Amino acid sequence: MPQINGQEVGPLGYGMMGLTWRETPPPEEQAFAAMRAALDAGMNFFNGGEIYGTPEYNSLVLLERYLARHPGDAERIVLSVKGGCKDGLVPDGSAAGIRRSVDNCLRQLGGRKARIDIFECARRDVKTPLAETFGTLQREYVDTGKVGGISLSEVGAQTIREAVGIAKIVAVEVELSLWSTDVLTNGIAAACAEHDIPLVAYSPIGRGMLTGQFKTLQDIPQGDLRRHMPRFQPGNFEVNLQLVEQVERLAEKKGCTPAQLAINWVRCLSRRPGMPTIIPIPGATTAERVRENSKIIDLSDAEMHEIDETLARFEVKGGRYPDGAPTNS
Ligand SMILES: NC(=O)c1ccc[n+]([C@@H]2O[C@H](COP(=O)([O-])OP(=O)(O)OC[C@H]3O[C@@H](n4cnc5c(N)ncnc54)[C@H](OP(=O)(O)O)[C@@H]3O)[C@@H](O)[C@H]2O)c1
Repeated sequence: MPQINGQEVGPLGYGMMGLTWRETPPPEEQAFAAMRAALDAGMNFFNGGEIYGTPEYNSLVLLERYLARHPGDAERIVLSVKGGCKDGLVPDGSAAGIRRSVDNCLRQLGGRKARIDIFECARRDVKTPLAETFGTLQREYVDTGKVGGISLSEVGAQTIREAVGIAKIVAVEVELSLWSTDVLTNGIAAACAEHDIPLVAYSPIGRGMLTGQFKTLQDIPQGDLRRHMPRFQPGNFEVNLQLVEQVERLAEKKGCTPAQLAINWVRCLSRRPGMPTIIPIPGATTAERVRENSKIIDLSDAEMHEIDETLARFEVKGGRYPDGAPTNS
């Protein structure tokens, strides 16, 4: 079993973003069932955010309600929380910003869990020295037992190296999937391996695209965040669909679903020389999808190689985020 900050977690984690951050979030009962299914399937690393949803209905609020129903699950869940933003999504790693965010998360959790296991700033605040951000987190929250450890999100290799000189970094969360492989070659995975930090792979099924559920752009709901993302724009989407079709064929050959192939390819990268432990965190809002995604599928070296060859022949159209969005900062 992989460990994060000394706590055992399943080889696959669970992304909570979709449970609260969309125009019409799923009903609470459906969310609770999905969360329970994740835990029962061993996906006990829960990845949530203060920023996932509205201030009134985010991952912490949902989790507080879930744990009121299932208090015994509090100690089963290893909880990672993303915050450190102001005015919505503007990074704020100042001492005051960190205090506001972590205190709010703890208040919203309502004492249902003894601590937040991992806290991460959603994006680096380039205007604030890392020493101020991490110093505040360490002295006021980690040392006092309110937070278990500090993680990084959407950072570059340089920030990882700088951060490990200032604080103990327990995880690095970056996008990694069949259509977002940059971290394998741009020094980020290597920096994690060098410092023995687990890499938490977000959006491992390409924000749903790699499941094959979208055949046309009309299949993406109105108001959905993906409608603003480059890879889901007309012209790009149709090209990227060709990769999805190849993933579907590879999955059929393997006897699994495309989502399972995508998730387990990411997981199996862990065993390659020079790679850190990699923990994919697929998100899904129904128990049925969570159970599908939780299945461990072992891919042989030959199967991994065949997938690599497919990827090498394909050029994904469109960036991961719209121009100007902070990435790998
Ligand atoms: N650090 C960061 O900046 C960052 C950024 C993005 C995400 N994340 C984290 O990573 C987690 C996962 O990323 P993500 O949600 O962006 O992308 P993802 O896990 O690649 O894909 C999730 C999407 O796929 C759909 N889906 C999941 N399983 C499915 C299945 N078996 N069949 C058909 N559709 C399926 C989900 O639908 P439904 O939701 O409708 O069920 C959802 O739309 C998030 O929850 C969040 O915790 C972190």
